[in-house]
Amino acid sequence: MDVPKHDVLIVGGGGAGLRAAIAAVEADEHITVGVVSKVYPMRSHTVSAEGGTAAAVREDNTDSHAYDTIKGSDFLADQDAVEIFVKESIDEVIQLEHWGCPWSRDPDGLMSVRTFGGMSVDRTLFCSDKTGFHMLHTLYQTALKYDRIAWYDEWFVTSLLKDDGKICGVTALNVRSGAIDAIPAKAVILCTGGAGKLFAFTTNASIKTGDGMALTYRAGGPLKDMEFVQYHPTGLPGTGILITEASRSEGGHMINREGDRYLSAYTPERMELGPRDMLSRAFIQEMRANRVFEGPYGEYVHLDIRHLGEELIMERLPFVRELATEYVGIDPVYEPIPVRPVVHYMMGGIHTDANAKTPVDGLYAAGEAACVSMNGANRLGSNSLSEIIVFGARSGKAAVEYASEQEFPEANTLSQMAQAEKKRIEEQFLKPRNGNERVATIRRDLQLAMEQGAGIYRTEEEMKTACEAIRKLLKRYEQVEVDDKSSVFNTDLIAALELGYMLDVAEALAHSALLREESRGSHAREDFTTRDDERFLQHSLAYQTPEGPRIEYLPVSITRWQPEERKY
Ligand code: FUM
Repeated sequence: MDVPKHDVLIVGGGGAGLRAAIAAVEADEHITVGVVSKVYPMRSHTVSAEGGTAAAVREDNTDSHAYDTIKGSDFLADQDAVEIFVKESIDEVIQLEHWGCPWSRDPDGLMSVRTFGGMSVDRTLFCSDKTGFHMLHTLYQTALKYDRIAWYDEWFVTSLLKDDGKICGVTALNVRSGAIDAIPAKAVILCTGGAGKLFAFTTNASIKTGDGMALTYRAGGPLKDMEFVQYHPTGLPGTGILITEASRSEGGHMINREGDRYLSAYTPERMELGPRDMLSRAFIQEMRANRVFEGPYGEYVHLDIRHLGEELIMERLPFVRELATEYVGIDPVYEPIPVRPVVHYMMGGIHTDANAKTPVDGLYAAGEAACVSMNGANRLGSNSLSEIIVFGARSGKAAVEYASEQEFPEANTLSQMAQAEKKRIEEQFLKPRNGNERVATIRRDLQLAMEQGAGIYRTEEEMKTACEAIRKLLKRYEQVEVDDKSSVFNTDLIAALELGYMLDVAEALAHSALLREESRGSHAREDFTTRDDERFLQHSLAYQTPEGPRIEYLPVSITRWQPEERKY
């Protein structure tokens, strides 16, 4: 197939990718943009975001939003990036409103806002409890208006192409036909989301395998702050399906086996609306004190929203009711919902500046795949939906500016690179090799190693064990046998390629965690229990080497808020 070339190529069709595409075509009326997505854009993980989008649009101010975000991050967020974020999130949510996003309204017609964990005022806009679904629809419908955006739906990116040190496109597998082609581009933006699937128990869709992170890592770019993994305090046992923080924002209570609102002992001022890292640790403490319930899928506590009443639940939390009823057989109008902490979000990701630029020329990243960093060691709920639109838009504009000064590489060079990549994939995965390893087995072992080594509480010994286990899994991966050798919709092959990405990202994560000898935000060590600003008020940067990750450090940008003790 003859694939066209694009000034800007975006990998990922979720909220950040779509916002980047719109910003790029609007920045220059002559350019063309390609959006490559391994699933149809409307199946991107943004669609499952529930509770809301933070922006200081009501009785609020940007300094307060910035301070809450920075305190929430345990002072690891770059404050210049946060200041940009809090200002631009206001324009972005209003822009979405103009594109048709159906924000929920108060009776006086103003956009409704609710409080989210760690936020000191009501600043989370929402569309009932299906906010991501409505935002993604709004962005997709807007993007479809532009015929200069070309769609590569169900194409899977296998590598970044570089010429003369600069990114010049990607190679991608057309999932429908099995063909592997180069898609040339002057600039590439990675908006591929996070890597929650490194863990077995996660709110994340199975597509979240860290693809963009691994692509960058392999292309020589660093992964920043990978040790910071967010557990969301309220997932459904068994499936890990998210029960939105909005249920606590609307007044839900967390109750232990003794019938206590146990968070009074952990986050007394904010109770159920403390930050996620603290609430997740509180669950473990309650578990250790034997004050949680036991169920077929492990320990849990109760999230009780019965007192909110059916009318409010149906207006503000209909999806919570649907999920609890469908997946645990509990109607929350009448019974409390069993919940437990679940892996939800990666604070770390591809190292970028505030214009979404990575250190690799021509490569940009935005959304959960990226680490700007505005989330530091712990993201506040509802900041990520605003992050994807703010930094999605910034990445689109920055990539267009860069692309305007670049030339496309020689067609021959690209074709040779595509041929080499095709050969690599055929040799490694499609030729019979009598390999005795299977994708599912290695993936299961990886997820086990991550849960044991990079959970809510961590120790040196556990993290070392995880690092060693991942090295061995990388070796076993060399022997992986893809059973399906066909071309059309070869999901076995895709799973094998994704597993390669997951292993690389996992290794960066485990090593970054091992070397951070302090407790900060979501990185809670039993052997280094306090924050150490002397040594670790720094971002970690993981670089790939044949011997394993090399970790460097980068100072945090502090503008107006000096680090202080974090209490809620
Ligand atoms: O609980 C939630 O609705 C999650 C929101 C978020 O992660 O920002």
